[in-house]
Amino acid sequence: MTTENIENLEEVKKAYYKVKTSTVEHMKELLHNIKWSKHDELQSKIKELESELENLKNTKKYWLVWDTEKEPEQIVLDCQNKLPVLEELKDRKIINDDSGDSNILIQWDNYHALQVLNYTHKEAIDVIYIDPPYNTWNKDFIYNDKYIDKEDTYRHSKRLNFMDKRLRLANNLLKEDWVIFISIDDNEQAQLKLLCDEIFWEGNFIATLPTIMNLKWNNDQFWFAWTHEYTLVYMKNIIKWKINYFKVNEKWLDKWENDEIWLFKKWANLKSTWVNAPRSKRPNLFFPIFINTDTKTAYITDDNKPKLQSDIILLPMTDWNEMSWRWSKTKINNEKHNIILVENKWNYSLYKKQRPEEWEIEPSYKPKSFFYKAEYSSWNWTALLKDIFSNKVFNNPKPLDLIKDFLILWTKKDSMILDFMAWSWTTWHAVLDLNKEDWGNRKFILCTNNENNICEDVTYERIKKVSNWYTNSKWKDIEWLGWNLRYYKTAFVDVDNLKEITDQKKLELTYNAWELLWIKEWIYNELEKNEYWQIFESNKDIVAIYFKESSRKIDEMKNRLIEIQKQKWWKVKWYIYNNPYEKTMFKDIKKLELKDIPDPILKVYREINKV
Ligand SMILES: C[S@@+](CC[C@H](N)C(=O)[O-])C[C@H]1O[C@@H](n2cnc3c(N)ncnc32)[C@H](O)[C@@H]1O
Repeated sequence: MTTENIENLEEVKKAYYKVKTSTVEHMKELLHNIKWSKHDELQSKIKELESELENLKNTKKYWLVWDTEKEPEQIVLDCQNKLPVLEELKDRKIINDDSGDSNILIQWDNYHALQVLNYTHKEAIDVIYIDPPYNTWNKDFIYNDKYIDKEDTYRHSKRLNFMDKRLRLANNLLKEDWVIFISIDDNEQAQLKLLCDEIFWEGNFIATLPTIMNLKWNNDQFWFAWTHEYTLVYMKNIIKWKINYFKVNEKWLDKWENDEIWLFKKWANLKSTWVNAPRSKRPNLFFPIFINTDTKTAYITDDNKPKLQSDIILLPMTDWNEMSWRWSKTKINNEKHNIILVENKWNYSLYKKQRPEEWEIEPSYKPKSFFYKAEYSSWNWTALLKDIFSNKVFNNPKPLDLIKDFLILWTKKDSMILDFMAWSWTTWHAVLDLNKEDWGNRKFILCTNNENNICEDVTYERIKKVSNWYTNSKWKDIEWLGWNLRYYKTAFVDVDNLKEITDQKKLELTYNAWELLWIKEWIYNELEKNEYWQIFESNKDIVAIYFKESSRKIDEMKNRLIEIQKQKWWKVKWYIYNNPYEKTMFKDIKKLELKDIPDPILKVYREINKV
């Protein structure tokens, strides 16, 4: 964690508060990183933290314990002698526009895909959403190629092993100021929360949001009609916390009235009735407010006498008990514009006005800590898929509007989003829908396995149909959502062992790495390829790979790059096999970034697989 941005005391206090609840390790880390400033107060806080750290070291700690794997996942063992790379299935590419930009689907086990992404997208993802298998009684969770059922006494441990490995890999991908949110239900919520506390750190926990898909659900569970799940939310670094608000829509606007200032709603009565309201407890807040019945205005006076004898006197009374006003005389004077006078049959009442929050910018409102909307009803989304596919394929996919709402809160218009448990690709649909609504340019990487061929036969068809104009079962044209997609599978370069890799295998990896670079650099066009090199363009760089150990063709390639650069004026990112050169040797190439390959890829795989 870097805390360079801790510039003022408020932020330090915030950090300190989080640290108080943290583990010793995180405290150490924070202490180490705080950029000490001149503030004396800060120095004393540091002392306080240090002594607290000492105390913590001597107290008991707690953490989540689960059974280690009796049978390690084959997929993980494979990584000891298989290097994951990507292979594009070109016939599955979807091209809707010629921008060259593209979203990415990786079909296969996410453990392999996440390893690849640890090289290509380290700290490059803004938002991760996943909806992992819930480990219910219905055999929804496959571990080591087998469905886990309720008789399996290790089922929680298996799921924790499964999630632990994947979430740790995912954590490396998140940018520092961004967020991960995870759908879960009661079967695994408690375990997942503790696991996430460990991986993302408890201090970065934002919320467990109850998520109500459908109030009409009637699935009986322990005599309740079960209607909710949860969404766990963690920030990569809590100090960078930010959230968007929901924009108000027209329906919402209808609930507000307008005055000379802005929108308002009638809120609480100005007369206070709570336990501390009696006049004896708050004598200063007991005074008359006068109403001029001609002008319909309320006012107060210093001497508590009306300006006109005919003006009505209001006192904060209930059933002859003397209570108090919520506001002082000064506040009433300063905020006359925030008071509403309501004429009743026999009398008048005063109310506070509620204003939309952040209304100065645009009408918006703070999200509530639970998520419910009629639009979330999962039946609608089952129906939507039925419509797309002309028959029912999925039960209860995640509601499109729910994922859209999460994306509204936690993305910018150009965010990069990852879902590595994508299944029916609701996330994809939500991203494109939102892009269309707000002219956004969010991009996504989706990854899913191909359980029961669902990815190839069903989800890919969904994406294809909804990317284009399509006709649904009612023969209505649905608007297309556009965008391009590249479809990858993971492939492998086999090696004897990950620790010692022969030159020949390194070369093989380099030859097969270009698709990794394709997604790392967002390349969209290959300019040329021969036995020695490959040159591509992204929409802002020239990306090149030199494959050979020998320097025989390096000058020739350099000249080609210079020629290409003359036309494009772009930066050159030049990957060279076992790069022995200094940048200064290629002075004639302007804006050059010299990069080594394949050792950085191997370094990532070795670190992940602990060799
Ligand atoms: C609950 S579903 C996700 C549903 C999705 N949010 C939707 O609305 O369609 C979880 C999915 O994660 C995928 N999955 C499970 N284990 C995986 C793995 N090891 N690698 C990749 N995908 C996996 C499976 O396809 C599984 O169906």
